[in-house]
Amino acid sequence: MNALATPLTITRDLLAGTEWNAARVRELHHLAADVKARPGHYSGALGGRFLALIFEKPSLRTRVTFEVGMQSLGGSTVFLDHTVSRLGEREAIPDVARSLERWVHGIVARTFEQRTLDLLAAHASIPVINALSGRYHPCQALSDFFTLEERFGGLRGLKLAYVGDGNNVCHSLLVAGARVGAHVRVATPAGYEPDAAIVAEARRAAKETRSKIEILHSPQEAVAGAQAVYTDVWASMGQEDEAAARAAVFAPYQVNEALMELAAPDAVFLHCLPAHRGAEVTDAVIDSPRSIVYDQAENRLHIQKAILLMLLG
Ligand code: CP
Ligand code: NVA
Repeated sequence: MNALATPLTITRDLLAGTEWNAARVRELHHLAADVKARPGHYSGALGGRFLALIFEKPSLRTRVTFEVGMQSLGGSTVFLDHTVSRLGEREAIPDVARSLERWVHGIVARTFEQRTLDLLAAHASIPVINALSGRYHPCQALSDFFTLEERFGGLRGLKLAYVGDGNNVCHSLLVAGARVGAHVRVATPAGYEPDAAIVAEARRAAKETRSKIEILHSPQEAVAGAQAVYTDVWASMGQEDEAAARAAVFAPYQVNEALMELAAPDAVFLHCLPAHRGAEVTDAVIDSPRSIVYDQAENRLHIQKAILLMLLG
């Protein structure tokens, strides 16, 4: 039986994360585990292949893991720095897509607008991978559930609490969490909830895996009994002007030792990084033995390699 009966199509792209059903996510995690265990086995798998990386925003983890990942699979990367001018300013995005597809075998793009990714995918016959947009961060969430599976041995019924802004990372945790059968509880300040359409989509997928999606305002209620406590920055890239106002609103949502006390005894702390220490998380939590943030960072490499193998292989 298909794990998801909802009308989701599997495409050659990874734009939102909603295109991949539960079986495809399991396949990805399986492959990532093998890539991690036997990196040498895959060292020539993408020989002769080229990958374009278009970044409208800064990056450490995503850029390095895609570049190192592609090269360790035998392929090559071309980095297109669009942190000064946005894609589409010099020439129309469809023309960028139609040109790139003549030279390279895949596009990884980090954009402000989700529409930029959708346009690239609509006009290029090669795979397009979302390396973070204002709306989603699918590679991050797929990797984080891989990290949690390693830690807990399974994901069905795992209780994850996300505390903070209902942003791109939160959206992708909802979408991916519903597919892997994890219970996802989100606590945000009023007015900063995740997008209602994404919550509805996650709830539809959650019905198939019998997981629960809850959107709350109390961080204490969200974290109570959770096995994984996740937070992210209060102001995302592009929201720098709002940082001061947001700091005041989000202060009660800081993940500190008192909040972690409410979680399950074996609870872990997660953060996609970069973190603002002393804001959304204290040093005491992020540097504690419960913190698995650098395991998350490492696994971005193995997941990125598995994504490239599945889409470009
Ligand atoms: N977590 C993450 O995507 O980090 P970067 O912004 O450094 O790529
Ligand atoms: N929400 C953050 C995630 C960074 C990886 C941002 O978009 O800036």
